Amino acid sequence: MPGQIEEIKARIDIVELISEYIRLKPAGPNNWRALCPFHNEKSPSFMVSKDKQIWHCFGCNEGGDILSFVQKMENIEFIEALRILAQKAGVTLVAQDPKLESQKNRLLDILQSASRFWHQTLLESAQAVKAREYLKRRGVSEQMVSEFQIGYAVDSWDAVIQFLKSKKFTDQDIFLAGLSVKKERGQGFYDRFRDRLMFPINDLHGSTIGFSGRTLKADEKGGKYINTPQTIVYNKSLALFNLDKAKNEIKSKDSAIIVEGQMDALSAYQAGTKNVIASSGTALTLDQIRILKRYTKNLAMAFDADAAGQVAAKRGIDLALAEEMSVRVIILPSGKDPDACIKNNPQDWFKAVTEARSIMDYYFSQTFANLSLEKVEDKKQAAKILLPVIAKIGNKIEQTHWLQKLAGRLNVAENILRDSLTPGEPKPQTRTIQEAKARVRSRSLMLVEQIIGIALKYPDNLEYLVNNLSPDIIEEATLQDLYKRLIIYYTENIQGDVKAFDYSSFQAVLKESKLDQLADKLVLLIEKDFFDFDSDAISRELMTSINFAKKAYYSESLRRISTQIKQAEDDKQDEKVKALMAEYTQVLTKLNILG
Ligand code: UTP
Ligand code: MN
Repeated sequence: MPGQIEEIKARIDIVELISEYIRLKPAGPNNWRALCPFHNEKSPSFMVSKDKQIWHCFGCNEGGDILSFVQKMENIEFIEALRILAQKAGVTLVAQDPKLESQKNRLLDILQSASRFWHQTLLESAQAVKAREYLKRRGVSEQMVSEFQIGYAVDSWDAVIQFLKSKKFTDQDIFLAGLSVKKERGQGFYDRFRDRLMFPINDLHGSTIGFSGRTLKADEKGGKYINTPQTIVYNKSLALFNLDKAKNEIKSKDSAIIVEGQMDALSAYQAGTKNVIASSGTALTLDQIRILKRYTKNLAMAFDADAAGQVAAKRGIDLALAEEMSVRVIILPSGKDPDACIKNNPQDWFKAVTEARSIMDYYFSQTFANLSLEKVEDKKQAAKILLPVIAKIGNKIEQTHWLQKLAGRLNVAENILRDSLTPGEPKPQTRTIQEAKARVRSRSLMLVEQIIGIALKYPDNLEYLVNNLSPDIIEEATLQDLYKRLIIYYTENIQGDVKAFDYSSFQAVLKESKLDQLADKLVLLIEKDFFDFDSDAISRELMTSINFAKKAYYSESLRRISTQIKQAEDDKQDEKVKALMAEYTQVLTKLNILG
């Protein structure tokens, strides 16, 4: 692997790589400069050197090579960063034992296979005639179908499951990738997406992490669109449809256009406005805004003309303003979404984009359109609407500008308005290391409580739990004890047939150890937190929690072993160092398998 790392580093230019994530400005013949993505700063102290192929921030003193950059930026393990960069460099990593391949990578492979399968189906299958006609009717070009890898999932209960199983993927991994649903009765799974046009949702690097499927049925009861649920690789509040393809254009135009739906994004992209991404029908989250902010500070939102669209957009706008981004509004001819507007006349769309107005201007004119400045009631009303918005603006200069403008319109002194600005939320205090540690510990405690609680409340998850979580990983003694007793009970009474699990008889077993109350408490916790979850979501939650709990445990073990290695080295205990190193590698392998 060391030789391969050198090869990867030789093939990827650090300046090109980093500019995929943030905006770099030239600083001398060989260097580039930017605002540091790892800490908050007003003037840029983050440097990238082309000849040395390194990065360093003189503000927070972090630095390194392409691998450490990707690792930090994406908050991932070394091995994961290596995988991403190897793919980019076209270097095949020495074949690993597939059993040891990380779960995350397996899920990504599944999603990629499914995406190709559905795309191929759309292009070739006789069952996809309707889907091809639908796309044609909506004016989606062949070029777009291929560039976006649009696909079609046929009307079947197991088409994609069968295909993936023929590729040797397991039922469990297919389920974890979000592509199947557990049957309510009996064992087994069925396809989540049936008779739907499939839009892959990609991460920044273009790897497919989930799907959005649009029904082709006229009277669909399951929802016009259904999406991949939260999985180990798909986090809805981070993903942005089309950001992988739009990011370069967003950087070069220094502006991102945000639309609501996939079809809107597709139409805008096809019409040539390629700096477009879709928020998929929900308000932008803070995480999404921070990701966008790496590429540009300028957002242009295409409002749906309907009120619901505006309410959804509002939350995202508030967050963006607080992040000191500049937000503009693309106002479309009434009653139209971007897709309809472009289909009707692309020039209307281009015009609306060019004439996008600053959000504050827009709020001002919306507010004053229905008010008369002669009436004192109306003045109060205007202040009531606009002051909270002004209060959210993160940049003080900009805030003052709008405050003055409002004062002028209302003909009152600026001070009076300033006094009634609702005070911003206090900044969270920086946490001490002890506090952070305590928090980590209580988080893993909470995870384990949740894991055991789910298994008690929903025993069809018992088998998975027992096979996938060893009691050693639970550090809290009473919880570990409870779990051990559960394993014993499971092995003696219900091996294989979880339907036979009877909570009250298990409770009876626990009575002598006084653990019965703890068990009740855990069940109650689950009833509180999961009452509105379906059984699929609960199983997924359990699997994800187990994964997290193991990761936390192994990471902690690695830290402990490194300290011991250091100590043994200082004491010159060579044998001990060797043994510890071997242990370290073992734990690291276990950690990497988890992804
Ligand atoms: P829209 O209902 O506006 O759909 O939802 P659309 O994009 O215009 O789609 P077409 O033109 O009818 O085909 C906007 C977005 O909200 C999400 C989808 O991401 C959709 O693109 N959505 C909508 C869902 O997730 N589920 C739904 O049931 C509906
Ligand atoms: Mn539409």
